[in-house]
Amino acid sequence: MSRTVLVTGGNRGIGLEIARTMADEGDKVAVTYRTGEPPSDLFGVRCDVTDPADAERALADVAKQYGPVQVLVANAGITKDALAPLMPEDDFRSVLETNLVAAFRFARLAVPHMVRGRWGRIVFMSSVMGFLGSPGQVNYAASKAGLLGLTRSLAWELGRRRITVNMVTPGLIETDMIKNVSDKRRDALLAQTAMRRVGTPAEVAAVVRFLAGDGASYVTGAAIPVSGGLAMGQ
Ligand SMILES: NC(=O)c1ccc[n+]([C@@H]2O[C@H](COP(=O)([O-])OP(=O)(O)OC[C@H]3O[C@@H](n4cnc5c(N)ncnc54)[C@H](OP(=O)(O)O)[C@@H]3O)[C@@H](O)[C@H]2O)c1
Repeated sequence: MSRTVLVTGGNRGIGLEIARTMADEGDKVAVTYRTGEPPSDLFGVRCDVTDPADAERALADVAKQYGPVQVLVANAGITKDALAPLMPEDDFRSVLETNLVAAFRFARLAVPHMVRGRWGRIVFMSSVMGFLGSPGQVNYAASKAGLLGLTRSLAWELGRRRITVNMVTPGLIETDMIKNVSDKRRDALLAQTAMRRVGTPAEVAAVVRFLAGDGASYVTGAAIPVSGGLAMGQ
């Protein structure tokens, strides 16, 4: 496989693992990074995904380097937790902007190229919390639930064009993002996880790789859990 792949938020955590997994397969992989330096083994484009001009430039830079994006993994995401009455509206809005609006933005920019190339794969990074709800995370859960409507509507729009659109819904995955989860909350979530353990970025990357590959040619509009059984059946 040697497709042009763009992973947003691909400089660390789950995104970096996805990028490296796909590069190992022979794909031409670019990542966006916002802070610090890009990974030395990958083509990095500096980009704040909440900035429309940055996003446009990122797609153009990737196209110049490798050709138009054929596989988009919209992975960049943030949390800004607080109980709803204490959550500033700005924190609600900025989580929606990063996790949902920016995912739409990148898809919107990439789709015309996929249509022209008559092939494409889009994978959105959702979360089980979008289905379960999560106290202290109304913004995060709303953004991740919103990705379901985005996924399924785009799947309808693009189904006849050999472009699939899916999302993965990870449970607890060992990255910086869960460093601030309290032991009590972590234990409570693990008690509801059939496998009773936290997942790894590699376990998420393996599923994204499948969705981006030929083996998933008839999978679209799906929400695939990678959660060790947390929120199964949701
Ligand atoms: N870890 C989990 O348990 C878990 C579970 C379910 C879903 N997820 C989802 O998986 C995705 C990756 O999370 P992670 O666990 O790998 O978290 P992470 O280690 O905190 O990484 C988040 C990534 O998103 C990037 N990012 C955030 N805001 C951005 C912005 N405005 N512009 C550009 N990049 C931005 C970060 O870039 P910087 O380095 O520049 O900050 C970083 O690369 C997220 O969408 C998250 O919601 C994670």
